[in-house]
Amino acid sequence: MVCKKILLDEKDIPKKWYNLAADLPTPLLPALGPDGSPLEPKMLEKVFPKNLIEQEMSTKRWIDIPEEILEILYRWRPAPLRRAVYLEQHLKTPARIYYKDESVSPAGSHKPNTAVAQAWYNKKFGIKKLTTETGAGQWGCALAFACNLIGLECKVYMVRISFDQKPLRKIMMQVWNAKCVASPSNETNAGREILSKMPDTPGSLGIAISEAIEEAVADKSGATRYSLGSVLNHVLLHQTIIGLEAKKQLAMVGVKKPDVIIGCVGGGSNFAGLAFPFLYDKIHGAKIKIIPVEPTACPTLTRGPFAYDFGDTAGMTPLLPMFTLGHGFIPEPIHAGGLRYHGMAPLVSQAIMDGLVEPRAYDQLKCYASAMLWLKTEGTLPAPETTHAIACAIDEALKAKKEGKKKVILFNYSGHGLMDLAGYAKFLSGGLSDYYLPEEDLKKSLEAIKNFPKPAKFKRG
Ligand SMILES: Cc1ncc(COP(=O)(O)O)c(C=O)c1O
Repeated sequence: MVCKKILLDEKDIPKKWYNLAADLPTPLLPALGPDGSPLEPKMLEKVFPKNLIEQEMSTKRWIDIPEEILEILYRWRPAPLRRAVYLEQHLKTPARIYYKDESVSPAGSHKPNTAVAQAWYNKKFGIKKLTTETGAGQWGCALAFACNLIGLECKVYMVRISFDQKPLRKIMMQVWNAKCVASPSNETNAGREILSKMPDTPGSLGIAISEAIEEAVADKSGATRYSLGSVLNHVLLHQTIIGLEAKKQLAMVGVKKPDVIIGCVGGGSNFAGLAFPFLYDKIHGAKIKIIPVEPTACPTLTRGPFAYDFGDTAGMTPLLPMFTLGHGFIPEPIHAGGLRYHGMAPLVSQAIMDGLVEPRAYDQLKCYASAMLWLKTEGTLPAPETTHAIACAIDEALKAKKEGKKKVILFNYSGHGLMDLAGYAKFLSGGLSDYYLPEEDLKKSLEAIKNFPKPAKFKRG
């Protein structure tokens, strides 16, 4: 019988996170401070606790996972590695399709892996309250869950369009004791300024990040810090437990290495979590195709330049070396709210510059159609973000069929869609459409960064 779920024993959970910064062929370019010179760790101290700043700057390959963090992760980890045999049979592909099921976490996605770690390090540093942003609501729920367990106050700025599309996510945050407000809000200068110019804006992750940082640094008692759900090095680090578990699980079914690895990308953390431990093998000679998938409506990797830009709309973050659509870019209101981000993690961006990963963009309708095939074969309901990885896995399985190759495809099932039914309802009633970002709009958005410092190297592919 074909093994459909590969379960790792609790005692075999990875005990260290993997840091790609130790192995990238081209070292990461530094983030820049307001005067354009490389950022000093001290400048981040109002925003993050020192222990996480150390991780952010670290180039150590392996970083121990504290036992107390593992104790919390055991609630759902190790997460299952599953094989999509029914989809394989339907496609009549010789490929084997494996997926890491991150939907089993308490909040329903990969996000609690770093939420727990960040809340734990903040608590250890003496912080009392965390502020954050959320797009789809998955990250806000994850941080609310972690803060509630660990004993921190939590305030979440939720992107307006998701706040309206997903009211139940707000209630999930509330039952985990967090306060959730729609962004842009009237609670911060950044929010008020945007509302005065664009009262009907759907909001964006960039705006919500500005609001959350503003609230954290405004607390003169020093007891509040900000927490980010993706993009930064330490966030991607915490997610590598996904790929490290997957490696052990693939070995249990005799797979030495996958041929193709796929993850959807918003800020880059679920993709990185699965892919980075395998990127180590690729850097050391293994032949693996690694594909981050983004929406065509927010084509950061496939159409944006590699440039220095702010991580948020109001320009409160340092300048990060990354692919970007411009910090003022407000994506169309697609249902994959977690993929509506103008930038990309510097580590993922540098891996693209080094030719290690090959980004792709997919339309919303194709992704929902792929989800319907998934529901018909595998039966579970994926998050709209996750459907991007599923669509790509199906394409790769059909390609393997055409080539007659028994490839091993591995993707990250980053979350369930049980709170995302409004998008499915719209798809079923024919009310969804694709969005293509006009070249003119992209040019206009990039105007804002034309005088920013330029990354030293521009080596693509
Ligand atoms: C289910 C799910 N998948 C993927 C993402 C994309 O984020 P990231 O690229 O940081 O993994 C999100 C973000 O909210 C999400 O909720």
